[in-house]
Amino acid sequence: MAMLDRPVVEELVAEARLAPSVHNIQPTRWQRDGEALLVLADDTRQLPAADPSGHDVRLSHGAAIEGMSIALGRRGLRIGRIEIASGPNPVARLVVEAGGAPDSLAAAVATRMSWRGAFQPPDDETQGRLESLDSERDDLIVISQRDAVTAIADLGNRAAYHALCDDAQRRELLHWMRLRQGDAGNGRDGLDAEALALGRVEALGAAWVLGPLFPLLRRIGLAAPLTSDRAKTASGVIALFHRPAGEDPIETGQAFYRAWLTMERLRLAACPVSVLADWPEANRMLVAQHGVPTGRRLVNVFRLGVAAGAPSTRHVRLPVQELITEPSEMRSSAAR
Ligand SMILES: Cc1cc2nc3c(=O)[nH]c(=O)nc-3n(C[C@H](O)[C@H](O)[C@H](O)COP(=O)(O)O)c2cc1C
Repeated sequence: MAMLDRPVVEELVAEARLAPSVHNIQPTRWQRDGEALLVLADDTRQLPAADPSGHDVRLSHGAAIEGMSIALGRRGLRIGRIEIASGPNPVARLVVEAGGAPDSLAAAVATRMSWRGAFQPPDDETQGRLESLDSERDDLIVISQRDAVTAIADLGNRAAYHALCDDAQRRELLHWMRLRQGDAGNGRDGLDAEALALGRVEALGAAWVLGPLFPLLRRIGLAAPLTSDRAKTASGVIALFHRPAGEDPIETGQAFYRAWLTMERLRLAACPVSVLADWPEANRMLVAQHGVPTGRRLVNVFRLGVAAGAPSTRHVRLPVQELITEPSEMRSSAAR
């Protein structure tokens, strides 16, 4: 029997889709190619304003590939070889073979979620887990000194405001937010109120603040305080995620997912604060102040800790059937 018959591919994709993707756009599609899997990009799912180079989308493909690798391991299979394609689509071809073993991070896949609430003050036990994280991953710099975390939270606020003042970025973010109950895409993709840790009233408020009211609020100086995430960031600990300069974002994405799963395995809730790495001014300051080694680039920044609240247990994801394409569909998608 073939290793990758349709029911197996469906099970694998059901697990691989739990990988994080930027704004939860879920750009990765899968197609069986004999005993290999083609990784395809749904090119209708991009972020031209927030991610004009496509870096974060490609990183998201890398995270999905790592998710697939972990899913294969659970079934005694593994990726024997990753062939990165030279063009944009397909993204890669994964040659699957027997001989895989369960991944040490497999148990963390089902429970890892973005935690966008505040954190409990770190106690000694949390401190111990943070030390384990720091020693397990040489691509993370963990910062827990309160004054340093507070300064990063302030910087994060400035970086976020800078991004929100860019009309195209703000509109794009709003497009992927599912703040009203009847929003198309609710429960399928994007960022809903529960994922954003917002109550229903807060969610409606956010839709107005980021939408039609933003220019007025900005003029009267209220946009910055109303969109501030500073307190949440300041309540946690910071981890700088850095990778070799020049690394393919696919590989970066694989490491990004593993770093986040390691946090989850250590029972540390986390959320990326991408603006801190994306805004050049913030990136330069963090690299200089926190000793990101030469030859490495600061890819992203996590805030993390023990959640002060109950994280959601619900993964908002597209149905598996929509993530698996047939060869004819791939051609039409590539031709779009
Ligand atoms: C490259 C990348 C950047 C991200 N940046 C942010 C961010 O700046 N803020 C945020 O709240 N979530 C960020 N996320 C988290 C995604 O929004 C999240 O993974 C997605 O909504 C799926 O939800 P889940 O992580 O709970 O499974 C990022 C994820 C990726 C892969």
